[in-house]
Amino acid sequence: MDLMPENEKPADHTPIGLNVAAPVVAAIARDFSQAMEEGLVKKSGPLKMLPSFLTRPSGREKGLFISLDFGGTNIRVQVVKLEGNGQWQILKMQSLPLRDPRGQYDLTLSTTSAEELFAFLADQIAALADKETRYSLGHTFSFPCNQIAINRAELIQWTKEIRTAGVEGQEVGLLLAEALARKGLQNVRPVAIINDTVGTLLTAAYLDPCADIGTICGTGHNTCYWEPSLNQIVNMESGNFDRLPVTIYDLELDKESEKPGKQRLEKMVAGHYLGELARLIAVKQFGTFLPPYSLDAKGLAQLIAGEDSSLLGLQGQETARVKEIGLELITRSARLVAATFLGVLARIDPGLESRHTIAVDGSLYEKMPGYAAAINKTLAEALGEKAPLVTTKLSKDGSGVGAAIAAALAEERFL
Ligand code: GLC
Repeated sequence: MDLMPENEKPADHTPIGLNVAAPVVAAIARDFSQAMEEGLVKKSGPLKMLPSFLTRPSGREKGLFISLDFGGTNIRVQVVKLEGNGQWQILKMQSLPLRDPRGQYDLTLSTTSAEELFAFLADQIAALADKETRYSLGHTFSFPCNQIAINRAELIQWTKEIRTAGVEGQEVGLLLAEALARKGLQNVRPVAIINDTVGTLLTAAYLDPCADIGTICGTGHNTCYWEPSLNQIVNMESGNFDRLPVTIYDLELDKESEKPGKQRLEKMVAGHYLGELARLIAVKQFGTFLPPYSLDAKGLAQLIAGEDSSLLGLQGQETARVKEIGLELITRSARLVAATFLGVLARIDPGLESRHTIAVDGSLYEKMPGYAAAINKTLAEALGEKAPLVTTKLSKDGSGVGAAIAAALAEERFL
């Protein structure tokens, strides 16, 4: 769906149509603010604006917690000690992929049941938890959920092409609690479920009172922010934003995806899709032959960084062309994402009077050459002399530590 009126469209500077000029950034920011309002007030439009029941931490939260991070690529369990002075320590950690690279298991297939998936999660927790210690557990579950309370969240639908059966429409906390009970892990009490964006924001805000936006630029893409009128962090599920200028390649990728019509912004910006977009363009433009989803964001990053990319299956000239396309795609991704941040800033601080830290986690922001710089450049271009008030900052592994902070905030409330 191309929702941008013909007369507002910028002239294309690239034959592929990936350029997002400054006026387009401004238009997207406006539309995004508007969609935030619609989602909050009318509960309609592309942004789900899901409550988290959490506000920002004080930095004094303390204790020993288990955090479980389930995001779409890996399952990571950590024992986290919050020290109460904005500092923390990760005492133990274990991480396993959701899809075994040697093909032994794949927890994302529709042939895997919810019971199998959550039993696997409980096994990872059992491997780390001390039998004699009582823990509160914070669970980062990075998918759109109807949050009913801090510790109750129902999966609305899978995103990021996950298909595991019997989880959509279910309460994720119950599935985990049942799996823990079956393994005899009575000493581990799940007290909080959060989105990874919320975890990223909580981690940054534990140290930095100016942090009020949290975002993931990785396999998936989404942003949360602290909504002043609710004194609550709101998970926007911004990957579903769809008022965007799209190309034929975006339409094609969407059509072939697991959930056509959904997560349109995510399909244009996130790591899971960037390689595939580059492939689709290369196939159409130069007749390159590569199977679907054979090019991933890591491959694209290698190509862009000029590292050895001989394993990507590209021949001679194609390598340089796909690199060009990759560069255009990541610039477009960064500019679209920055436009949505501008939309949030316009809502929470219309005159831009205060400082804001945008906490970012995810492989694209951290590792893709030029990505973070392109976000910052787009923000600077749009904000002009006010640009120094807005900082983006890597909040590494924020979703794991953030789950521990959420568990501490939940305990404060329950006790
Ligand atoms: C997807 C999920 C969202 C998550 C994001 C980043 O967009 O729907 O909940 O925050 O990926 O992992």
